[in-house]
This record gives sequence, structure tokens and C-alpha cells, in this order.
Amino acid sequence: MSKILVTGASGNLGRKTLLQLLKKNPPSKLAAFVRDPDKAKDLAGLGIEVRKGDYFDPESLKRGFKDVEKLMLISTHAFTDRRKAHANAINAAVDAGIKHVVYMPIIRKANSSFVLQEVTEEDKFTEKLLMSSGLVYTLAKHPPFLDVIGNTIGMNAAETGVRIRQLREPSWSSRRAGGLSPFLQSWLPRHPAP
Ligand SMILES: NC(=O)c1ccc[n+]([C@@H]2O[C@H](COP(=O)([O-])OP(=O)(O)OC[C@H]3O[C@@H](n4cnc5c(N)ncnc54)[C@H](OP(=O)(O)O)[C@@H]3O)[C@@H](O)[C@H]2O)c1
Repeated sequence: MSKILVTGASGNLGRKTLLQLLKKNPPSKLAAFVRDPDKAKDLAGLGIEVRKGDYFDPESLKRGFKDVEKLMLISTHAFTDRRKAHANAINAAVDAGIKHVVYMPIIRKANSSFVLQEVTEEDKFTEKLLMSSGLVYTLAKHPPFLDVIGNTIGMNAAETGVRIRQLREPSWSSRRAGGLSPFLQSWLPRHPAP
């Protein structure tokens, strides 16, 4: 039976994706791609086939991607050669005849020039590669995960609070300036400012 394979299955996102898939598929339909099978014993215990491999080992990708119909490609750790890792995985998916690849880049505004180190540029690289690969692909764009929000607001935000810059003009006053969107203009008369 051709399978749905999830890479990075020893990590958070990969494991949770498989557990979700398990609600709608028999375990025999699912496979987990991991560097260290010891870290996926729980998944094996649920009947999910565990395949050992590494993005930097093309032979292991070839073995791991055999008889796979759909692939969820979990991006590898930041501050490693993500471009090479993802390119190896996408090339192996093409060679293996995989029909559909799902990848989760971080959400960005179209044409944004904002660069998040070790994230946005690697995502753009991977997206371009997928788009030119001939594979059917889905980009499930996600916002920053809450588990890393401490990097932005401070690790002790619960104790210290969060400081934000005062707005130049309170947003309610822009109503008087007529600067609100038609949606807000229609909403405000029924919900006056406090
Ligand atoms: N948007 C955000 O705010 C945000 C936050 C955190 C993460 N992320 C991204 O989402 C990805 C998944 O998140 P997560 O929380 O699930 O991360 P995670 O728990 O660290 O999982 C990463 C997975 O990638 C695997 N991996 C690393 N290098 C590999 C390689 N060379 N070959 C094969 N597999 C490899 C890891 O295997 P091992 O267990 O062997 O290390 C692990 O299973 C992260 O890698 C990161 O790119 C985004």
C-alpha cells in the first residue's frame, strides 16, 4: 500500500501530524521518517512504520521514500544547512515518484522584504524548489509558534510584563480622522468606543 510519510517525526510537529493522521487513516497507511528510531518507539507502538534516514544521506532518502504517495516535509533545525537538506528531500521525492508534498513555511506578506534569520530565506528557497519540481505541493503557511514567543517578548514576560511603544495616535481617534476601513466604519456606530 502506498503510504503517507511524515519526516521529522521524532519532533513536535511531525509527531503531532502523524497522531492527527491516525484519526483518519489506519496505521498501516502511515510512515515516520526519523534519524533515530529510538525516539519514535511510541509511534511504532501505534503500528506506524518507522523508517530510519537523514536528509543529508541520499541513499536513506531513497529507501525511506519508497512506496510513498504523500509526503509531509518537516523543515530541519535552524542553523544547519537547511537548503541542502530540503533540496535533497525534494529531489528524492521527485525520484521516488511521490505525488504530493506538504511543506510548512512561515507566513509572510506577499513581496515582504522582512528577513527572519534562518527562517524566511530558507523557506523561500524551499518554496521555489517545490514550485519548479513538478510535484503537486501544498504550502501550509503558519505563524510563529507560541513556544518561541519568548524570543520576541522576553523569556520572563509573565513576571516583567511586556513593554510596547506608545502609538502615535490612539486608534480610536483615527475614526474622527475618517481613516477607518469601510468594515470598521460600519461596525463602530453599533459598538462605540469605550
Ligand atoms: N514558526 C515558528 O515559530 C517555528 C518555531 C519552531 C520551529 N519551527 C520550524 O518547524 C520545524 C518543526 O518544528 P518542531 O517544533 O517539530 O521542531 P523539532 O521538534 O526540533 O523537530 C525537528 C525534526 O527535524 C528532524 N531533523 C533534524 N535534522 C534532520 C536531518 N538531517 N534529517 C532528518 N530529520 C532531521 C529532527 O530529528 P532529531 O529528533 O533526530 O533531531 C526532528 O524530528 C522546525 O525545524 C523549524 O524549522 C518554526
